[in-house]
Amino acid sequence: MAKQARENAYANFSNFKVGAALRSASGKIFGGCNVENATYGLTVCAERIAIFKAISEGERRFDAIAVVTDTDALTPPCGACRQLIWEFCGDIPVVMANLKGAIEVLRMRELFPKPFDSSNL
Ligand code: THU
Repeated sequence: MAKQARENAYANFSNFKVGAALRSASGKIFGGCNVENATYGLTVCAERIAIFKAISEGERRFDAIAVVTDTDALTPPCGACRQLIWEFCGDIPVVMANLKGAIEVLRMRELFPKPFDSSNL
């Protein structure tokens, strides 16, 4: 699903196409792709699109997220996405993969070891 979502990436400025897929505890999978903007700063990453799609459809519990790019070095979520993945999904596995089939899985705790979240408020 992440590979398929990547096909829709609107990445005219970076030419870096990213696909994501977020699986909810109910088994539904939500795809997302990066959507860039001429102002650059308004760009939204693939992971956040997938999360917002799922949240806006009423989903609240998630068990895994995948990120796919066409690079030899696998792509981890950016800092902003780590914050949101942590907030909405907690310590889920993050599957990083490329189009050649290389895969690495890290848990959010490893990618984001000392989060700021509602427990700090
Ligand atoms: N990007 C993502 O969509 N997800 C990531 O995990 C890393 C970066 C996008 C943002 C921008 O459109 C392009 O990749 C280059 O940074």
